[in-house]
Parts: sequence; C-alpha cells; structure tokens
Amino acid sequence: MLSAVERKIEQFIADLNDKEVSKLYGQLPHGKRLRAKLILKIAGSGLSVIKTAAIVEMIHAASLLHDDVIDDAYIRRAKPSLNALYGNKTAIMLGDILYSKGFLELNNISSEVAKIISNAVVQLSLGELKDVSLSKTFNLDKEVYLEMIYQKTASLMEASAGAAAVLAGKSQEAYMTYGRNLGLAFQMIDDILDITADAAILGKPALHDFEEGKTTLPYIYLYEVLDSKEKETLKSLHTKQLSSEEQNWILERMRTHKIIEKSFFEAKELVEEAIELMDRYGEEALSGIAMQMIDREF
Ligand code: FPP
Ligand code: MG
Repeated sequence: MLSAVERKIEQFIADLNDKEVSKLYGQLPHGKRLRAKLILKIAGSGLSVIKTAAIVEMIHAASLLHDDVIDDAYIRRAKPSLNALYGNKTAIMLGDILYSKGFLELNNISSEVAKIISNAVVQLSLGELKDVSLSKTFNLDKEVYLEMIYQKTASLMEASAGAAAVLAGKSQEAYMTYGRNLGLAFQMIDDILDITADAAILGKPALHDFEEGKTTLPYIYLYEVLDSKEKETLKSLHTKQLSSEEQNWILERMRTHKIIEKSFFEAKELVEEAIELMDRYGEEALSGIAMQMIDREF
C-alpha cells in the first residue's frame, strides 16, 4: 500500500505542472516512509488515508530540505543533499513548494485532521529553532533536550498516529501517545547512531552532533558521571572540530560508563510502553513498526 502513497505524492507533484520541480523531486531519496507506514497500519488504505500519508511525507521531506540548509549538511541518506547539489536557494524553495502543496491538499481531508497536522508543523518549526539555539550553549538539562526532540521529531509522528486514528474512528489520545513515544525513541536512536554508527553507513560523519554544538542524551548522561577535570575536558571539546584522538577520548568514556547502553535503554523503554499501550487496544500489528524504530542502523 506504500506504493499507493508514492503514486499519490507523484500525482500531487505532477499537479504543479512544473518540469523543474518534478526533476528536483525525482532526485530526492525517499527514506523509510515511517510516518506513512504508521498511518497505513492504523487506518488502512482508504483514499483519505493515502492522501494524509502522502501529505505528511511531503511535509517531512520539506522539513528535511530546510533542515539540511540550516545544519549546513551536504549529505542526506548517504547521498549529496539537495543543497549540496543545487545550493540553498533551490533547496529552500523546493521545501516551500512541497510544504505548501501539502497544506493545500490537507484542506481536502477534514478540518480535524488539518488541525492535528498543522499544529504539529508549528511544533516542528519551534523545535528546530530550539535545536539551533540550544546548540549555541552547552545544554545539560535533560528535560530541555526532551522537549526539543518532542517538538522537532515526535510531534509529527504523534500527529500522524492521531490523524490516522481520527480517520479510522479510533481513540485519538491513545494513538497519539503511541506516536509520541515512537518519535521520542526515534530521535534518541538517531542521536545515539551519530556516536556509534560507521560514518559510511550513517551517511554523515561520526560525532557530528557534538561538533555542531548538540549535546544529545548520551552527552548529558556522560557529563553527569565524569569527574570535575573530565567535565572540563568534555566542555572544551564542545563545538570543536574533533581530532581522532579527541573523538577516541569521548568514545572511550562513553564505553567505560556504559552511556550508549543507558541511552538505548531509555529509548527501548518508550517503545515498549508504546507497544503495551497498543496491545491493550488489540493492535499487535503496531508492535512491528515500533520495533523498527529501535532496530536500525541509520
Ligand atoms: C532533523 O533533525 C529535523 C527535523 C526532524 C525537523 C526540521 C524542521 C524544520 C526545518 C522546520 C519545519 C519546516 C517545514 C518546511 C515544515 P536533525 O538535524 O537532528 O536530524 P538529521 O540528522 O536527520 O539531519
Ligand atoms: Mg539535520
């Protein structure tokens, strides 16, 4: 059924009747389509469901186009990002086009679904701003980190699950909790992979987040257990272009203090909570997609 979503996105793009946009869209790698999968699993394959899934994926793609400009990221999904290929202006405008076409189509679903999705896009944007602002500081507050990843990432998964529940006549609140937990876990794993994954698999350099100023969950936990001298060393490396010796210093301490295990455990707990919640609603099929959140290499 995912192919029906792909076809719907292609149709929305074709509606625009613009060769350049079609060409640019054709060059975007698709990604895992997790949000679409989530929507289809909850709500089946009616036309409104397919359209909602297509709209959410277009909004997600738009947000990544903008995010790569904001992050100066030249690689996305192991390929050159659109800003790397065509410059920031083109990437921003393609993002604007995907995003506004998505919103135009959202009007044709229902006002309830439109409200849920558009509220998430507000959160997404606030979260991205917070991410950028926080990276200028050495943030050690876990609650602040959790709020930021909720807004930046979990809000759209929460809204995807909530909108799907509305379309299927299911409990909006329970499904939103499920989507929220999945989204939080997804971003935590993303942040862990930045530290553990091979740069080739990840499609971006390792420990990039810390160099960018992002003190993600593993760094917050690591700082907590370091002695005062080591705390100072870690702080001095923040936002620095790290030498391999400095990278190893961080990685060794992460290993000694089992920081990755601790962070992974937290993500796993959120996923398990989500699975248990859905089991209570007789939605065993939703556990597979939840497991995909934690069981991934990139
Ligand atoms: C990726 O985070 C970024 C997001 C999930 C959200 C980006 C949101 C915006 C740019 C604002 C909304 C814009 C529109 C057009 C809807 P990351 O940088 O931690 O992840 P990455 O490693 O995948 O780059
Ligand atoms: Mg980014």
